[in-house]
Amino acid sequence: MRIAPSLLAGDLSCMSREAERCQGADFLHLDVMDGHFVPNLTFGAPVIANLANNTDVPLDIHLMVWRPEVLLDDYLAVRPARLAVHWEAVGHMDRVLGRIRDAGVEAGIAINPATAIEALTDSLQQTDFVLFMTVNPGFAGQAFIPHVLAKIQRFKTMLAQASLSVGIGVDGGVGPENIHKISASGADLVVAGSSVFKAAKPAEAILHLRRLAEGAQ
Ligand code: DX5
Ligand code: ZN
Repeated sequence: MRIAPSLLAGDLSCMSREAERCQGADFLHLDVMDGHFVPNLTFGAPVIANLANNTDVPLDIHLMVWRPEVLLDDYLAVRPARLAVHWEAVGHMDRVLGRIRDAGVEAGIAINPATAIEALTDSLQQTDFVLFMTVNPGFAGQAFIPHVLAKIQRFKTMLAQASLSVGIGVDGGVGPENIHKISASGADLVVAGSSVFKAAKPAEAILHLRRLAEGAQ
C-alpha cells in the first residue's frame, strides 16, 4: 500500500516544512481547490512549483477545479508523478488524459462518492488510476463514507471483465480505524490528511498506517 499524506490537513503556511515531516511517504498529495467546483480555495501551480523545489518526495496532484484543461500545462510543468482531474469537472476527458500521459505523468480520474463507475467505462484505456473519493471533496477532516468500498468492488469486477489494469486510490477520511478495510478492498494507494497531520509525529503515523494496511493483505 502506498501512502500519500495530504498537505491540506497540515500547516499550509509552511508547506515545505510539513513535507519534511512526512518521511516515508510515497507521494505528497496536493489538493488544488478553486472555490467553485468545491466550496473551498487552496493553492495553485505557482505554490506547488515552489514546493517542488524543496522536496524530493514525488508529487500527487488532485485538481478539484472546473475545467482543469485551462491551466493543465502549468501543473504538468511542475513534473508531478501523478495528476488526477475530476470526472465531474472535465468536458473532454480523452483529450485531458492524453495530455497528462503525453507529459510523462500518470493520469488519474477522481470521482465523487455519488458518481457511478459506469461513467468511466470508455475512459479506462487512457487512465492509469482512479481516485475514489470517500468524502465529498472540499475539506480535510470529514467522515469516511463506507459505501464507496462496495463501488470499488464493482470497479474491480469491471476491470477483470475488460482485462484492464488500473490503479485504485482512496481519498478522504482514511485513518488507522478503516485502513484495513480499504486495503482489503484492493486499493493500492491511500490519501491521508488529518490522520497524519493531527498526529504528533506524521512520519510515525505514516508507518503505522502502512503496517496496518500490510496486516490486512
Ligand atoms: C478532500 C481532499 C482530501 C483531504 C483528505 O477534498 O481531496 O485529500 O485533504 O483529508 P482527510 O484525510 O482529513 O479526509
Ligand atoms: Zn485529495
